[in-house]
Amino acid sequence: MAEGRVKVGIIGSQFQADIHAASLQIMSHETELVAVASPTPGNAAAFAKRFNIPRVFTDYREMLKERDIEMVSICAPNSLHAQMTKEIAAAGKHIVCEKPLAMTVAEGEEMIAAAKRHGVLLMYGEELLFTPKYLKAKEMADAGAFGKIYLVKQSEKHFGPHSDWFWDVNRSGGGAFMDLGCHGIAFSYWFLGRSPITSVYCQMGTHVHGHKTKAEDDCLCILEFANGATALIENSWARRGGMDDRIEVFGEDGETYANLHMGNALATYSENGYGYAVEKAPTTKGWSYPVFEELWNYGTPQELTHFARCVRGKEKPQSTGEDGLVVVHALYAGYASAGEGRKIAMPFNAPNAKKPIDLWLNGSAYRQAASR
Ligand SMILES: NC(=O)c1ccc[n+]([C@@H]2O[C@H](COP(=O)([O-])OP(=O)(O)OC[C@H]3O[C@@H](n4cnc5c(N)ncnc54)[C@H](O)[C@@H]3O)[C@@H](O)[C@H]2O)c1
Repeated sequence: MAEGRVKVGIIGSQFQADIHAASLQIMSHETELVAVASPTPGNAAAFAKRFNIPRVFTDYREMLKERDIEMVSICAPNSLHAQMTKEIAAAGKHIVCEKPLAMTVAEGEEMIAAAKRHGVLLMYGEELLFTPKYLKAKEMADAGAFGKIYLVKQSEKHFGPHSDWFWDVNRSGGGAFMDLGCHGIAFSYWFLGRSPITSVYCQMGTHVHGHKTKAEDDCLCILEFANGATALIENSWARRGGMDDRIEVFGEDGETYANLHMGNALATYSENGYGYAVEKAPTTKGWSYPVFEELWNYGTPQELTHFARCVRGKEKPQSTGEDGLVVVHALYAGYASAGEGRKIAMPFNAPNAKKPIDLWLNGSAYRQAASR
């Protein structure tokens, strides 16, 4: 096995690529960011200049030919995750795939199979498993602080994504539930010790962004688990005021609450405004809650460092392609539930759905197909 810092290439040069690059540089003792690939002329070069990355490509396939790159981060739209994963695996490189793992269950299965076939790791980018506050809650729960856990709540909300492709269901696969609910599903599944999900119930609506998307911009989701616990996951692209991410955990003997952003912020009032408060905050005038050490509090530097240590065989992946696939199954069931207006039992086989949101958008058509 190779030694030294793991050489990393990133696909993409915008929002999440920026977070990956900055995170890798925060904890650069385990990794060396050596390349970036992004198709829009000039973007990869500007990104490389900002992060001092020596190799720049407009075609990620060219980057995959670089023999010394060992781990590749996929920070590209959801519809490209499967194809990219298969090509990275075939090039013999370990994969970090951003959430959600894939658009379809079949894609997710192919990604896992490709990684196995080529003997590389498929690691699923779910940073909530590395978020220091949430990790602390999990450590306390595992130490018995709350007794038997019966309810986990996770909520992530903001006023909608930054790039066009998120709003296009053919490129994203779904709206707020797909984009943000994937975090809550992965979080509660992990928090509850990977107890199997036995049912999914969702209620969805498009309340403020109907003029630009067919997708839901608000979703409530209830998951039931084999161990008797329940999760309530709330997601929104309709919530004003910047990113909000929080958890609540209830057990027979106690409870804990964590508000990721406001809990780590300075309660601030400013007539004049200032540079930056928190992800997706529209203004810094008036009351605001500027976060500090934002990436560290998200957990992305810790996540990517852990993945690099897995590549070196020093640790075992805490978040895998298999975990990502559990989430994709639950996403399908959630959209079907909202389309059908009923709780969906797991395991659930979605018939003829090219993407999860189809089961909500075509609820009645799906009902007819399922009853044939
Ligand atoms: N973990 C998180 O909290 C988190 C946050 C944001 C985004 N994400 C995920 O990260 C992924 C990227 O999202 P984003 O917000 O960075 O989107 P973005 O629109 O900001 O950036 C997408 C990038 O992909 C690149 N791209 C598009 N087509 C490509 C192609 N054919 N080959 C190579 N690159 C291509 C674009 O040029 C761009 O640089 C998505 O899957 C998203 O769900 C995760």
